[in-house]
Amino acid sequence: MEGLLNNEISASGGLIGLREPVDTNKFRQVMRKLAGSVTVITTENGGQLYGFTATAVCSVCAEPPTLLIVVNRSARTHPHIWRKGAFAVNVLADNQKDVAEHFASKGDCQFSAVAYSRMESGVPVIQGAAAYIECEVEQTYDVGTHTIFIGRIVETGAEEDTPLIYYDARYARASSL
Ligand SMILES: Cc1cc2nc3c(=O)[nH]c(=O)nc-3n(C[C@H](O)[C@H](O)[C@H](O)COP(=O)(O)O)c2cc1C
Repeated sequence: MEGLLNNEISASGGLIGLREPVDTNKFRQVMRKLAGSVTVITTENGGQLYGFTATAVCSVCAEPPTLLIVVNRSARTHPHIWRKGAFAVNVLADNQKDVAEHFASKGDCQFSAVAYSRMESGVPVIQGAAAYIECEVEQTYDVGTHTIFIGRIVETGAEEDTPLIYYDARYARASSL
């Protein structure tokens, strides 16, 4: 066992050296170092539209085209993604900070304040976004307070705009970083 790093798999295959996780403040502090594009995850269910601001979006693979999103189970949109089995990732343009703040707030009638169009599936996509990626849910994994939705990408679109960035708990334009 000597010489192996913490959590390293030993030659016999066992996981060794398991330690207590770091506290949540340390976790949040270090996660601020991860710069990310700001998106709004949208869906539709029973004729109602839902959406929330998210940075936990990650490309998974190109064959087949797949991405993942990570959604707090307490988010109002969560059960609707689950039931609809579909969602869109709207990658906000760098002039859409107000849209990011709007969809990160607890307000009602979220879609009355933004321009959008609807995909054939009924899922809304936000106008003026730098890109949209429409997905069908392929798999889900619950981890702690969140669900990872693996999405098979069924439609995409992109504009020339540069994306809005979130870094160190602030919004930034890519050109100013
Ligand atoms: C920049 C930013 C990124 C966020 N990323 C995520 C995320 O990836 N997943 C998530 O569940 N919530 C994320 N949130 C929090 C939600 O946007 C926020 O809690 C929202 O209010 C949840 O929707 P609800 O009010 O309809 O429940 C993020 C918030 C901000 C400001």
